[in-house]
Amino acid sequence: MSYPSVRKAVFPAAGLGTRFLPATKATPKEMLPIVDAPLIQYAIEEVAAAGIEEVIIVTGRGKRAIEDHFDLSFELDYFLEQHGKSHMLDSTYALLDRVQISYVRQRQPLGLGHAVACGRRLVGDEPFAVVLADDLIHATPSCLAQMVQVYEQHGASVVAAQRVEPAQTGRYGIVDGEPAGERTVRVRAMVEKPDPAEAPSNLAIVGRYILTPELFDEIERVNPGSGGEIQLTDALVALLAHQSIYAYEFTGTRYDAGDKLGFLQATVEYALRNEELGDRFRAYLKGLAAGL
Ligand code: G1P
Repeated sequence: MSYPSVRKAVFPAAGLGTRFLPATKATPKEMLPIVDAPLIQYAIEEVAAAGIEEVIIVTGRGKRAIEDHFDLSFELDYFLEQHGKSHMLDSTYALLDRVQISYVRQRQPLGLGHAVACGRRLVGDEPFAVVLADDLIHATPSCLAQMVQVYEQHGASVVAAQRVEPAQTGRYGIVDGEPAGERTVRVRAMVEKPDPAEAPSNLAIVGRYILTPELFDEIERVNPGSGGEIQLTDALVALLAHQSIYAYEFTGTRYDAGDKLGFLQATVEYALRNEELGDRFRAYLKGLAAGL
């Protein structure tokens, strides 16, 4: 059986970034750079690698830098051309040739579920991905490309998942279910940020989802949950009553780049993998470690 393909991705990007203050006071957290590109650029590269060509970014006040980043920059482009340095923006402009980006504003920070619902009109009646750019995932094939395969197999919503320390369940949506193929479970229970004592497992939702459009109706019906916010996880629980949902343990490394330690880990590991910097940076780290 063939299911409608996943052509669109919603990027909730209206959050206040309070975990990263003061850096995020006037700069969107999605614009924090890992080596030389902002987090959101890595995430859009990831969806493009999964064959998704339409990106819907849900922004809010103070997020203008995201729109400016994914636009032409006449003065800078002219300057770079005059100085033979146009190649410095090649990867960014090449990405813009592959995806079409639309923006919609979330006027109030009412939660992740509410942010996703802001994309409803632009998504329409088809399956779509949701990507949280502060979960940075290094994987080949990309995490979303792996998830599209699971979606194509089952024709149902898929959430990315990862085992976490049992003590950390309060930071994540947690799922439980029965095995349904390689690295895949069919979800039976799902709960947003449970205390370790109440968590049904230690399998945590990571910020990548492929969702069926019926989810939008559930978001409209759901009451505020954890933190008083409209939670995506609660809408998924409601969807579970009449549709299957799968959790997929992707292969790859995930960095919680919205957290200071996770951001530093991502910076170090992406710098080590960087063609231009990797060797020098490795030598520097070795020298540093020898002196510790
Ligand atoms: C959100 C979701 C949570 C998920 C997490 C992944 O939480 O609500 O279910 O586990 O993203 O990063 P947030 O980190 O926005 O509080």
